[in-house]
Amino acid sequence: QHCFTKSDDGYLYCEGLRVQDLMETVERRPFYLYSKPQINRNFEAYREALEGLNSIIGYAIKANNNLKILEHLRVLGCGAVLVSGNELRLALKAGFDPKRCIFNGNGKLLEDLVLAAQEGVFVNIDSEFDLDNIVSAARIAGKKVNVLLRINPDVDPQVHAYVATGNKNSKFGIRNEKLQWFLDAVKAHPNELKLVGAHCHLGSTITKVDIFRDAAVLMVNYIDQIRDQGFEIDYLNIGGGLGIDYYHAGAVLPTPRDLIDTVRELVLSRDLNLIIEPGRSLIANTCCLVNRVTGVKTNGTKNFIVIDGSMSELIRPSLYGAYQHIELVSPSLPDAEISTFDVVGPVCESADFLGKDRELPTPARGAGLVVHDAGAYCMSMASTYNLKMRPPEYWVEEDGSVAKIRHGETFEDHIRYFEGL
Ligand code: LLP
Repeated sequence: QHCFTKSDDGYLYCEGLRVQDLMETVERRPFYLYSKPQINRNFEAYREALEGLNSIIGYAIKANNNLKILEHLRVLGCGAVLVSGNELRLALKAGFDPKRCIFNGNGKLLEDLVLAAQEGVFVNIDSEFDLDNIVSAARIAGKKVNVLLRINPDVDPQVHAYVATGNKNSKFGIRNEKLQWFLDAVKAHPNELKLVGAHCHLGSTITKVDIFRDAAVLMVNYIDQIRDQGFEIDYLNIGGGLGIDYYHAGAVLPTPRDLIDTVRELVLSRDLNLIIEPGRSLIANTCCLVNRVTGVKTNGTKNFIVIDGSMSELIRPSLYGAYQHIELVSPSLPDAEISTFDVVGPVCESADFLGKDRELPTPARGAGLVVHDAGAYCMSMASTYNLKMRPPEYWVEEDGSVAKIRHGETFEDHIRYFEGL
């Protein structure tokens, strides 16, 4: 069951809500529209998959940092994966249990590590200097820090180079040949560091779960070696990265259960506590960006649908050449011709497109058009380029009602940055 469906008469629905009807009442466009029941279903898929294992589902906040969504995921039972001091502050504000939070990153700042140490979140060691900073943070906070070693499994996740992270030349993680150096360094700081586990993250949009298995085999080997030296480590963190069906073309993609089942026996055989860090697979398909068609034009041999949304609100197509499915929210006029269009925004940039070469019926001016799977890395990567203010967000609740879950940013908000200068 998926939250967005097309009725036989050609209207797009989000759960029971006709998107066209909502467009008529919402004052600003574009806007993000989420389904809360879909968030529940996505979470439930992970929860069920993890039954019988000790585990933490660490939701990767970078994918979507809407406070209402964070609070909801926390209530469902998620921990949080953080990559900045502000993400940590937001997670605390959303009420996440620090003992279920993991602070990741290759450039964590000392002041943020101090906060992490004070709050008692897990911290990943990413490099020699990072270890140094964690030790300093522990001293400043007067607290011992539970650390995991971010190991680089050097597997090819078979994804876009920008979202591959677990290969040898990536900026993330330690050089595995230096494992012994890191173990010795941890041993040398018994008052500051407690090694509790090993972490890896392979990349994002991964659609083959074998890759997770390959990495887990390798990680368990490292864990054996680390335990052989007397460390009592309990946590295997296999990161996030499970892909979703962006194409909507009927492909069968691995589910959370498929992912967990490939590592289950290994985890049990070593009596490990499994941490996973899903972002996209929890939140991407719960949302679409709802836009209005400003007009249709043809230049040279290209047809364009120009909408009010743009790369400022949703940059994935421009940045990664990512495909996100696009459709109209209402049935087209009976005489509407089907053509091949680039769907573009108003931003002064030829990279400003939401979709290329899409077969669509020629829409009327003012028609609604959605970009699907916009729940992950869309709003959280939105900018104010061309002074397009960041859009409001709404969700459909379990009872079918709609609530605003973030205000749209305003021009006045922007001017506020200049006050008092
Ligand atoms: N854990 C770590 C250490 C990560 O670096 C990431 C994502 C995740 C977990 C969550 O991965 P997910 O389950 O969402 O794939 N902006 C790009 C994606 C960047 C992913 C960065 N790291 C995009 O829009 O596709």
